[in-house]
Amino acid sequence: MFQDSRTTESETDGSPDTFRVRQATSPMEVSLLVLEWAAAEGWHPGLYDTESFYHQDPTGFYLAEKDGVPIGGASVVKYGENFAFLDHVIIKPPFRGKGYARRMIKAVIEASGMSGANIGLDSVMHMQDAYNRIIGVKFAWKNTRFRGVGSNNIKGVKEDNHPAALVSVKQVNFEHLCVFDASVFGTPRPSFLKS
Ligand SMILES: CC(C)(COP(=O)(O)OP(=O)(O)OC[C@H]1O[C@@H](n2cnc3c(N)ncnc32)[C@H](O)[C@@H]1OP(=O)(O)O)[C@@H](O)C(=O)NCCC(=O)NCCS
Repeated sequence: MFQDSRTTESETDGSPDTFRVRQATSPMEVSLLVLEWAAAEGWHPGLYDTESFYHQDPTGFYLAEKDGVPIGGASVVKYGENFAFLDHVIIKPPFRGKGYARRMIKAVIEASGMSGANIGLDSVMHMQDAYNRIIGVKFAWKNTRFRGVGSNNIKGVKEDNHPAALVSVKQVNFEHLCVFDASVFGTPRPSFLKS
């Protein structure tokens, strides 16, 4: 149990505040957050997201509970001592608009021990200002996501002078892959890539 685990009286009706944030204790609980709830939000999680994030940091997943029942969750996956990524921030629909995300986010950042570290996150547009108010993160850049079907016959790219093609990741030298990935992600993450 973390920062927000104290029992206090609810400000609204005087009833006990039973909101808690705790670490997820099994891969099954992690799957609940990473796959089930994320899919319900239409996020298209990857087939191996649970394993990949869990391998990188098995301590980085949290559930928020109300009256002992999970109502949301978040992850703070650490990549070394100075960088972590806040992700999978979800409060289930009936519990939204009551300040639970704010409390959960503050609690998980403190519990992760990364309060003073560099924390990245991908935010939906409408939560950008709220994240700034809650944990002080600042806008860095916009991501645009494209979707398509992979092919070795990439239109407009001539194979002779630009050998662009898809290859299995298994054919790529792992150390080269790690160096390239670190150049775009910002920090090395070999365990994540290996899984
Ligand atoms: C986003 C989400 C986690 C917010 O949960 P919540 O418990 O309703 O949020 P809170 O009541 O704690 O509000 C936290 C802050 O976010 C703001 N906020 C919440 N929902 C918002 C919305 N739809 N638009 C703009 N601001 C919003 C609140 O105003 C509040 O700001 P403040 O504390 O500075 O006043 C919840 O709506 C959710 O799970 N959505 C689907 C998943 C998602 O989009 N997750 C975020 C991915 S970046």
